[in-house]
Amino acid sequence: MQDDQAKRPKSDPSDWSQGTGQRLYRYAKTRIPGGTQLLSKRPEMALPELWPAYYQKAAGAEIWDLDGNRFVDFTHNGVGSCLLGYADPDVNAAVKAVIDAGSMATLNAPEEVELADLLCELHPWAEMVRYARTGGEAMAIAIRLARAATKRDKIAFCGYHGWNDWYLAANLGESSALDGHLLPGLSPRGLPRGLQGTALAFRYNDLASLERILTEQRDQIAAIVMEPLRSDPPEPGFLDGVRILADQHKAILVMDEITAGFRLTTGGAHLILDVTPDLAVFAKGMSNGYPMAAVIGKGKYMEVAQETFVSSTYWTERIGPAAALATIKKHRELDLAKMLAERGQRVREIWLRAAAKSKIKIKISGMPPLPAFVFDYPDAVALKTFFTQHLLDRGYLATTSVYVTYAHTPALLERYESAVFEVFSEAACALQEGSDGLTKRLRGPIAHTGFSRLV
Ligand SMILES: Cc1ncc(COP(=O)(O)O)c(C=O)c1O
Repeated sequence: MQDDQAKRPKSDPSDWSQGTGQRLYRYAKTRIPGGTQLLSKRPEMALPELWPAYYQKAAGAEIWDLDGNRFVDFTHNGVGSCLLGYADPDVNAAVKAVIDAGSMATLNAPEEVELADLLCELHPWAEMVRYARTGGEAMAIAIRLARAATKRDKIAFCGYHGWNDWYLAANLGESSALDGHLLPGLSPRGLPRGLQGTALAFRYNDLASLERILTEQRDQIAAIVMEPLRSDPPEPGFLDGVRILADQHKAILVMDEITAGFRLTTGGAHLILDVTPDLAVFAKGMSNGYPMAAVIGKGKYMEVAQETFVSSTYWTERIGPAAALATIKKHRELDLAKMLAERGQRVREIWLRAAAKSKIKIKISGMPPLPAFVFDYPDAVALKTFFTQHLLDRGYLATTSVYVTYAHTPALLERYESAVFEVFSEAACALQEGSDGLTKRLRGPIAHTGFSRLV
């Protein structure tokens, strides 16, 4: 890729509200309620009225919008699903082979069995595997298994786990219970009121908040559901404490590895954090952008899937398992997790050095391959919008967190570094003029921060 092409999209940035992507998105909102199928893909979450919105082509770390502008993606790279980069040639070759051989048939795909063996080899505590195709539905399977195995109804959880009723039930009656668990403002409208009180939130690294739930709800908690880690590392003793509490209260420990999995090691992050769950759930990280999800677990809990109806046609198609096998094998061969940690560390350093040079205050968080920062100012969201707008002008899709991939080569990181330095220095000038300095440099509204109705 040539430098100038990465830095100078073809269209005039001042016209982006009239770009083909924004025009299509304005129309889409009249046909598709909410505009897209995923909250975090709404252009309003990044850069209202200016974000390119749609793509025609993606490869490696690059994306071409509908007007042929080329951007380097320093955001979440397919919502965290493409650890090897977009359109990885090895994964695509495996997928094309099963498409040509017939990706759906009356008989079963043998890749399912090979993948089950591979997942159990990587996680020696697990004996059996079931599949789905999305994270949210795989979580719903894990919850069903836990409820069926324990004959209990209630779930103690922390963090974000998808759109399903079992999870949104936390907001019935108390609409802010889910705030602080990644996405604020999630509405439980449409859920049966009878689910109220069935999903109870505790805080990561706050063992007492979990213990309180387990004590108050004596013998009613079917499962403790959590990510092994997200923005903060576990404090010493926290994960051990969760495991002990799960055993004491005979609750099933479910680790949601949908985002953390395959980022810190080849397999679940729980492997290197030294905690053994009863069930673990994988999705986005396991198949490089092709729909695939798995619930793995101890045989005695997985066997319950024979006693409760868990079954779906497209959980049997062949592309998902073929993509997962190719992704996991390449991941292991490359020692990808180590590479991702180094690249994530480099991104953190870029932000910290740019901030120090421009005397802008930021706070960094996130596990090494998913670094994030916030501007430490009352106008943080306006500053984040400014950052995104000015990096877009330079040919980058960017926000204040990055899911690094194999495709984020040292050369791309170097170019990103210069762009970030320029934008931080422009932000410093804007800040010197007070909040007016910032808003007068924004060409559209500030970014949304959570779930809200679109107009
Ligand atoms: C930790 C976690 N759990 C569950 C989900 C839901 O997965 P999906 O969007 O595939 O339904 C996500 C997605 O962002 C996630 O990060």
